[in-house]
Amino acid sequence: MINVIFVCLGNICRSPMAEAVFGELCKEEGLELSFRISSFGTSDCEEGNPVYYPAAQTLKKHGITEFTHRACMISLKDIKNADYVIVMDHMNMRDIVRMTGGQYGDKIFQLGYFTDGRDVDDPWYTRDFERAYSSIEAGCRAFLEYLKKEHGKALEYDRLH
Ligand code: 4NP
Repeated sequence: MINVIFVCLGNICRSPMAEAVFGELCKEEGLELSFRISSFGTSDCEEGNPVYYPAAQTLKKHGITEFTHRACMISLKDIKNADYVIVMDHMNMRDIVRMTGGQYGDKIFQLGYFTDGRDVDDPWYTRDFERAYSSIEAGCRAFLEYLKKEHGKALEYDRLH
């Protein structure tokens, strides 16, 4: 099982959207049992809060209704236990690098690394939840393709059993 964690600042907009979208893509591919998927914030500013209403509405508009996430700040243990830590922007990356003292660099990626190299802009500030959704969806699709190449044989085995 591959443990993937998505990370943003507040854990009420982008990273729970990524968790839900990536989970949906895994289901579509029959790979849901191959992954443990969760999300965290680099800050505790929204600790315990549900997915922000406009983010939840955007997910629903795209047919994703199953999410019961509550915001949680990331710990070093979460990072240690993860196989992949996927952050949404360069500020999340900076915060995670500070937390880890630069360790675990080989498993920490920005989601945009798998597509156009750009940040997933924070819809909390831009108010453009559709644009965030579309960067997240493209990033998650490309990330899953990357994982299928990296872990092809193991994932194929999971799909067949
Ligand atoms: P997120 O967006 O990092 O995508 O969850 C934010 C949500 C809340 C805040 C900042 C960003 N905030 O400052 O409360």
